[in-house]
Formats: sequence, structure tokens, C-alpha cells
Amino acid sequence: GAVDLGPYRHYMQKEIFEQPRAIGDTLEGLASISPTLFGADARPIFEQTKRLLFLACGTSYYAGLAAKYWIEAIAGIPCDVEIASEYRYRVSVPDPDTLVVPISQSGETADTLAALRHARDELGMKNSLAICNVATSIMVNETRLHYITRAGVEIGVASTKAFTTQLAALYLLALTLAKTKGRLSSEAEDEALRRLRHIPAALQAVLALEPQVIAWAERFATKQHALFLGRGIHYPIALEGALKLKEISYIHAEAYPAGELKHGPLALVDREMPVVTVAPNDKLLEKLKSNMQEVRARGGELYVFADGDSSIEADERMHVIRLPENYGDLSPILHVVPLQLLAYHAALVRGTDVDKPRNLAKSVTVE
Ligand code: G6P
Repeated sequence: GAVDLGPYRHYMQKEIFEQPRAIGDTLEGLASISPTLFGADARPIFEQTKRLLFLACGTSYYAGLAAKYWIEAIAGIPCDVEIASEYRYRVSVPDPDTLVVPISQSGETADTLAALRHARDELGMKNSLAICNVATSIMVNETRLHYITRAGVEIGVASTKAFTTQLAALYLLALTLAKTKGRLSSEAEDEALRRLRHIPAALQAVLALEPQVIAWAERFATKQHALFLGRGIHYPIALEGALKLKEISYIHAEAYPAGELKHGPLALVDREMPVVTVAPNDKLLEKLKSNMQEVRARGGELYVFADGDSSIEADERMHVIRLPENYGDLSPILHVVPLQLLAYHAALVRGTDVDKPRNLAKSVTVE
């Protein structure tokens, strides 16, 4: 049946603004970290797990790329992330103690399902855990363990609330594996749970930045190209921001880890190239600031998403929007939201079909 648009112009806008509710529902009833969050048989499987392998496409792949940082830093487990359409056809070296984790909004993406079956049937990796938004999907049916995100029906072709709920679920997975391995103190667990429960309110405050993002989007809408920069776990967030802009505004956008600037993309920087920078106040901020200086020295114009407490000063070639807090480990979940809004409003100015961008489909169920 049709989903009511309510006060919104597009499903994508509605879905961006639903994110506080979607994350709240995804984490509903979370009282403590336990393998049973992922299924009754999860504990022995998690105890046996020595590696993680994320398989996904599109935005779900970027959720996996971000989660790799959490899995390795928090759980101390080696983690690979593979584009499903590549993995299914390449010769790789299997490890039977791998937990195979397909990530998918729909649970029906043909390449992701094929990659899962390739890992299980051809490579003998039987332990699998789906991070999926549709409980009745083929993917959930074909995996031993699951975490169902509760984003609700997502209609906009460009994924938004599915992505942030995937990140929340993947953060829980990192905490759970850490606890299973004896790497999570009860104080650290309580603190993580407290921070997770704060996300809906924190998201609400980030959504309130929309008017500032609209002002930027009006300038963006006239551009042909944009560069997105991030470092660490915010590099995948920069990738997702560039993907959103491409998908719905048709502005060519590329994302780079900021430390790679001088290995190529700096050649593209001139006064016409907007450079969007995801700049939370983390331990890479000082490094990122010197990368930003490289852009300024070539006349580039920076659009910086900082945190409330980042020491970054705006001037006429450096525009700054400050997110209200510093979100620590959970920062990617907050920092992607203004990038979604930027893409949405740039597309609105350009008059594209936001919910059904040309040539794209909501789920790609054929190869
Ligand atoms: C399509 C959609 C994307 C989505 C990707 C993977 O390309 O347009 O928004 O990220 O498929 O879909 P999945 O349902 O597997 O997450």
C-alpha cells in the first residue's frame, strides 16, 4: 500500500527526517549487549569467529566499510569488506572461522545473495549473519543469524534511513563481538549503551541544521563536480555523501581519503571545485586540517562539517557548519545526515526526480 508523505515533498526527505525514529526502533528494548540480539545460536558462532567478511552493494557496502573500523578497533577481529559483484567472481582464500555478514536494505540484491552463496557453497564458510531491513527477505531466510534493522519501508531509491540503521546494528555487532572476546568492560558497555540511546535526540539536533545546508545546496546546484574528503571512519561517510549527490542531483562527485589528495585529486582543485570535508573532532582532525590547507593554497572552496568543539574558523573561502556535539565513536551516524540533506536540496534546486533518479532502481534483483 501507499505510504503517506505527510508534510514532506518527497519520500527521501521524509525518510531523512524519520531517522531518529528509525534508529530508536532499531535499538528498541536494548538493555544489555548479548549475542542473543543476533539469534538464539549466536554465542557459539561468535566464539568461533576469527574473521569477519562483509558483503554488500551500493550504500550498504559503505556501511560495511565504515563498520570495519569499529570491528577492528573495538572487537579486535580482522575484517574484510567486499563489493558483492566482485567477490562472487574472484578467486579468494577462505577461512572456515569467518563469519560472513551480508548487509542489505532489501535482502533481495542479486549480487549480494550470490556472494553469500559463493562464500557458503563454494568456499565452505557456513557461518552467516544478515544485517537486513526486511525480515521476510531471501537473505534473512538463507543466513543462520540476523539483525533486522527497523528503518521501516524505504521508498526513495537513494538509501538514507536504511544506511544509518545499518550503522547502528553494525556498531552493536562490534560491541557484542568485543564482549564475547572479553574486551568490553561493564563500564564501557554502559557508556556505549548510553551513547546509543542518545542517538535519536542527537539526530534531531543535526536535522535542525537543515536551513544552513539549504544555503549551501543553492551554491552547489550550479556546479558540475564536487570532491568529498574524510579520514578514518569518515572516509566511508565521504563516499556515501558523494554517492548521494551523484545519484539524485547528477553532479559528478568523488570521495577521497584526505591523505591521498596529493596523489591525484589535488590536480582537479581550482576555484570551481567545491570540496566538502567531513571534519569531526577526532584524533585525525589536525591531519585533516593540513589537508584542507592544501586545498586552500590551490584556491579551492571548502564546505566543512565540523563538530561543536572543533577548532575550525570560517572565512570567505571556508564555510563551516557545526554539528552540535562531538559524538565520539558514533560520529559517522550523525555526520552522514547533513550530507544526505545537501544532496537532497541540491537535487531540489536542479529539479531532478529525487525519489526515482534516472537509470536507477530501488533494488537490483537481476545481475
Ligand atoms: C540499489 C539502491 C541503493 C542500494 C543498493 C543495495 O543500488 O539504489 O540505494 O544501496 O541497491 O541495495 P540493498 O537492498 O542490497 O541494500
